[in-house]
Amino acid sequence: MITKIWSKEDLNDAAAVIKAGELVSFPTETVYGLGADATNNEAVSQVYLAKGRPSDNPLIVHLAQQTEVAKYVTEIPAIAEKLMAHFWPGPLTLIFKANKAALAPLVTAGLDSVAIRIPDNQITRDFIRACGVPLVGPSANTSGKPSPTSATHVYHDLAGKIAGILDDGETGVGLESTVVDVTNPDKLVILRPGAISQEEIEQTLGIIMNMDQYLVNQEAQPKAPGMKYQHYSPNEPVILIKQAEDWQAAIDYYQAKGEKIGLLANQSIVSLYENQIVASYDLGQAGDIETAGRKLYGGLRYFSETPATLILAEAFSKKGFGEAVMNRLEKAAGFHYFKRG
Ligand code: TXA
Ligand code: MG
Repeated sequence: MITKIWSKEDLNDAAAVIKAGELVSFPTETVYGLGADATNNEAVSQVYLAKGRPSDNPLIVHLAQQTEVAKYVTEIPAIAEKLMAHFWPGPLTLIFKANKAALAPLVTAGLDSVAIRIPDNQITRDFIRACGVPLVGPSANTSGKPSPTSATHVYHDLAGKIAGILDDGETGVGLESTVVDVTNPDKLVILRPGAISQEEIEQTLGIIMNMDQYLVNQEAQPKAPGMKYQHYSPNEPVILIKQAEDWQAAIDYYQAKGEKIGLLANQSIVSLYENQIVASYDLGQAGDIETAGRKLYGGLRYFSETPATLILAEAFSKKGFGEAVMNRLEKAAGFHYFKRG
């Protein structure tokens, strides 16, 4: 199969392909999604196949407008209305009790709940409207690899496996949406940290949010099935560096073991050590966590084009958006932090 690239002017051509039951990757404000008609079970089955995604990992339904939500859920709690009013369109995915009759069975992967979001990108919403059906949209990467933040990333992973890509340049946020379970309105739970921070949600609702047990203790069973899988892994092992004074020690230690080192860190760290290592990718200025999040997946992918055999990556503070950045980075590193001595 030849994978086409459409620009936003050709959005209707891409939509026609979706209507015909084929797969089109589409941009969102977070990462590129792998789109298919969420009411067509055969089309949805192709999504799992193209990504190599385990079949017990349900998909997010992407809609163009809030009035559509009622078709796919059995109940919209008042507190969910508040979240929708404040954060939609935007990088917040809500888990509702599903109206399963309105969706292809493979979308919910056997669960009684469904994930829904409305992306904060006009082109995405125009595209969904042109398709005339709700779209599933898992991140458009090969399962286990970093999510795609550009059409080039999607092409790299899925060329030959999908009909095409709707190209809208690089995504703005760079990390996936925050997933919040609203099926029990008395106990809202964050299942996946993301672009919208726990603090922002708490300030909006005036309540303390619960975190899924798995986010606190990795031995627990996650409520978002996708969280348990190996994720965001580049081809090279990643080691996290927490203390500024550890960079030199880590470089010396791994070079002595014969590793060729790549650095993924803020500009000042990169400029301090770049003459000692084989490759580097800067994540913006020190302290700019938004830029670090936006560039993270591109950075994790970058090193496979370099001679680096090991990536030393900066560990950021977990405050605010840093929580989502570190959730992805810790998984990419298999929670491996450098320890001296
Ligand atoms: O920003 C995003 O959310 C991107 C863009 C493309 O919209 N999409 C995305 O989809 O990240 P995906 O499939 O890579 O991640 C969806 C996550 C998975 O961890 C999945 O297990 C969880 O949401 N999920 C989906 N439906 C669920 C449900 N009914 N209950 C609990 N978790 C669910
Ligand atoms: Mg994903």
